[in-house]
Amino acid sequence: MKINENYLKLEQSYLFSTIAKKVAEFTKQNPDVRVIRLGIGDVTRPLCPAVTKALHEATDEMGIKETFKGYGPEQGYAFLRQTISEYYKGHHTEVSEDEIFVSDGAKSDLGNILDIFDADNTVLIPDPVYPVYVDTNIMANRTICYMEANKDNNFLPMPDYAVDADIIYLCSPNNPTGAVYSKDQLKEWVDYALAKNAIILFDAAYEAFIGDETLPRSIYQIEGAKKCAIEFCSLSKTAGFTGTRCGYTVVPFELKCGDVALHSLWLRRQTTKFNGVPYIIQKAAAAIFTPEGQQQIKENIEYYKQNAALLTEALTELGMSFIGGEHSPYIWLMCKSGMTSWEYFEYLLQEAHIVGTPGSGFGKNGEGYFRLTAFGEREDVEEAIKRLKALK
Ligand code: MLT
Repeated sequence: MKINENYLKLEQSYLFSTIAKKVAEFTKQNPDVRVIRLGIGDVTRPLCPAVTKALHEATDEMGIKETFKGYGPEQGYAFLRQTISEYYKGHHTEVSEDEIFVSDGAKSDLGNILDIFDADNTVLIPDPVYPVYVDTNIMANRTICYMEANKDNNFLPMPDYAVDADIIYLCSPNNPTGAVYSKDQLKEWVDYALAKNAIILFDAAYEAFIGDETLPRSIYQIEGAKKCAIEFCSLSKTAGFTGTRCGYTVVPFELKCGDVALHSLWLRRQTTKFNGVPYIIQKAAAAIFTPEGQQQIKENIEYYKQNAALLTEALTELGMSFIGGEHSPYIWLMCKSGMTSWEYFEYLLQEAHIVGTPGSGFGKNGEGYFRLTAFGEREDVEEAIKRLKALK
């Protein structure tokens, strides 16, 4: 037996597991201290009433012989795919229900999609970045090219025609920086991908946080994108599904490599390795897209955006430099002068009992930066602000 030795090239533990371990050690040593967690982007608002109602009803259906469901369609139930297709119309985008694959979240599909691409492809990944893009490619021993995201380009790297890439990762609104591409910028990426015969893996997990109609919520708002992009979406942050698990991936029919439609490959992969998302969860997900569900999730998103506004206001008052927090739940700030990301992590944990995420955990360009999330409870955010101000 031989193991996949590529796993040995990975950091010993996943970023958020390392942080959780450090925080657990701290709380063990300081059991009376109230630690405020603004680290991992996990939601705190409960599921909205439309969702829990659907969960209850679907659970009851499962207990009745006539309405019980066994295996469902691997691509997801039509009732959910239809409703997602309608949602896309709201972004002035046509995505057919058959181009939508219901998933258990963007993270799994972002990793799993690599099954349909040769290990010989070169991937282009921004730095800093959501660690999943890097780790899943290391696991497959793919060559990774990094593109610099830094304050000179507002953390929004643009295509460089001197670089030949096959698979390009873009995330907008961005995790970890909160930066958002404009339509013109995304058009440059689409043009580049088409010119290079490359594919864009577009992570739109935070699209619901965009509050400006002129900013793209889907890459398919850009002409030509259906020929070069797969889009990954998640209900985790949109509707509090981090523990409930549901998302969707769009693989357009027009997307081809030579004569081969990627849709067929992904369908083949999913039908072989995936048995679909539970019926109950898909019913809950469909409830999000009803007018009532949309209204309720918007209230939660506004709550988080208000948290972000309070945090960014406080950082401004403190004279700290940051980006994000406007169309994103993430605020990307520069560490206190001269501190590395992990030094700042320790400093905030020890002195203010606040947990954030060290920027260097997202890549070398993240060194000297720190990420705060706006997913906390209001009371905690207000307390964190008090503590940050007291540190000055
Ligand atoms: C994060 O904190 O970056 C996210 O929670 C990670 C994720 O969505 O998997």
